Amino acid sequence: MPDVACVNGRFMSLAEATVPVEDRGFQFGDGVYEVIRTYRGRPFELEGHLARLERSAQALNIPQPYSSSKWTQHVLEGIKRAGYPEAKIYLQITRGAAPRDHAFPANATTTVVITIREFHALSPELQNFGVSAILIDDLRWRRCDIKSVNLLANVLARQQAKQAGVFETILVKDGQVTEGAVSNVMGVQAGAVITAPEGPQILSGITRGLVLELARKDGIPVQERPIPQSDLFCVDELFLTGTTVEVIGVVKVNDKAIGTGRPGPITQRLASLFRRATV
Ligand code: PDD
Repeated sequence: MPDVACVNGRFMSLAEATVPVEDRGFQFGDGVYEVIRTYRGRPFELEGHLARLERSAQALNIPQPYSSSKWTQHVLEGIKRAGYPEAKIYLQITRGAAPRDHAFPANATTTVVITIREFHALSPELQNFGVSAILIDDLRWRRCDIKSVNLLANVLARQQAKQAGVFETILVKDGQVTEGAVSNVMGVQAGAVITAPEGPQILSGITRGLVLELARKDGIPVQERPIPQSDLFCVDELFLTGTTVEVIGVVKVNDKAIGTGRPGPITQRLASLFRRATV
């Protein structure tokens, strides 16, 4: 079977999968999600993603429909059915379908969707030469730590990146870099990795957590503090982390070169440690 979906526990091909028109995910963006990758058929950092899904659901008072072992069972079954060695797994829980009214419905049952599609990794050229980005104002709400399906500001930011012909949009709030539209942002200055701290301003990336751990273990100092926008063009290196981008150097922002204009040594070191962690 190619792309696979599982809707409320029932497996089918993705093309066949549907949810009701009055699903609150569709009408209000009232839901939470995760994106997980497989490497050689195995889901990467599944536990961390499931823990974050639980935190997101809890923060919005959405009942958790499955135990962690049931999620794992469904995810593994989906991977087996799809048969892709490199797959992108999407998990979504919404508050369910109910007549449209903003406040929580009394009797809705969560809608649970899993999709599994083939994942196409970034080209080695992007890894070797780095990517470009633009800066825009971070228009998002004050709970960016919740991985909610309400992604309009991220959608608009990604569209701006696409129109500008760059890889990612870096978001700036009150003069400080928060994160990327689909990634976390890290700078390197005087040999130390600097990145915005966990909190309501950013999504605490699973990749972010792993990369910071790898850096610390490797003796690279880490400073969890926001990068001021005014320092962005003075950093020695800049890179993104995320499930879909892994660790990738940013060599140009708003058409200005960052550092030497090539991914720097600490970015390359962390990218290589990250790759090793996926094996
Ligand atoms: N997004 N910040 C934002 C705003 C994100 O949307 C993501 C990931 C990350 C990186 O998190 P992680 O390392 O856990 O993937 C940071 C996923 C891939 C998405 O929405 O498609």
